[in-house]
Amino acid sequence: MVEKIELIHEGKAKKVYSTSNPHELLLEFKDDATAFDGEKKGRIREKGALNLAISTLLFQYLEKENIPTHFIKTISPTEMLVKAVSIIPVEFVVRNWTAGSLARRMGMEEGIKLNKTILEFYYKNDELKDPMINEYHIEAFNLAEKKHVEKAKEYSLAINDALLRLFESVGIILADFKLEFGVDHNGEVILADEISPDNCRLWDAETMEKLDKDRFRRDLGRIEEAYREVLKRLETRR
Ligand code: TMP
Ligand code: ASP
Repeated sequence: MVEKIELIHEGKAKKVYSTSNPHELLLEFKDDATAFDGEKKGRIREKGALNLAISTLLFQYLEKENIPTHFIKTISPTEMLVKAVSIIPVEFVVRNWTAGSLARRMGMEEGIKLNKTILEFYYKNDELKDPMINEYHIEAFNLAEKKHVEKAKEYSLAINDALLRLFESVGIILADFKLEFGVDHNGEVILADEISPDNCRLWDAETMEKLDKDRFRRDLGRIEEAYREVLKRLETRR
């Protein structure tokens, strides 16, 4: 029996509780949805459970691909037990296709395949709206140790290779995604947070239909259906 002891953090999509084991935390996935750094708010029915189920499948898949993650086990449809980490305050964004802020910044349309994968870094700070930074900023402001950043970069690209293969096998294009890493009590860098349609851009390979949070950001409707479709396709691969 895992006991929720104290709410230690409430983020936009998840609550974090301490447990009786100081090295383990309980994450509760919420149905709340936000976009544009919290400016747009809403709820997506069943989102917590869908994202937990999708993240679970992806974490288990990545562990098999030798990527260490914080996942320990699922406790309930919306609760996951994870390893406690100290979160590196840098968001690692991996891009394979133009979309979102990259398309805007480069004055390009969305949906162009990049010649080379792009890895970007953002300072995880809601008040500042997660500004883009580079490795010099990470070092200059001591956001993370250099060896931890090197590991997280290596994992980000390995995760991209593994997820591209997995999603391709179920007819989905992985256009881009965001990862967060933490350092556990042994000093090891491990993948944290979640991997779900909230922080990935997923497009149906045949129709290019959006199967991710852009349906919420852009008021495209059928959001829950899209998340459910991603889960359904991944379940065929377990
Ligand atoms: P962007 O195009 O808005 O920069 O987003 C790139 C990818 O990162 C996209 O899959 C959404 C994800 N993302 C997050 O998960 N959280 C964020 O705060 C941002 C800005 C992007
Ligand atoms: N996750 C961020 C927010 O909730 C940005 C986004 O996904 O658009 O505001």
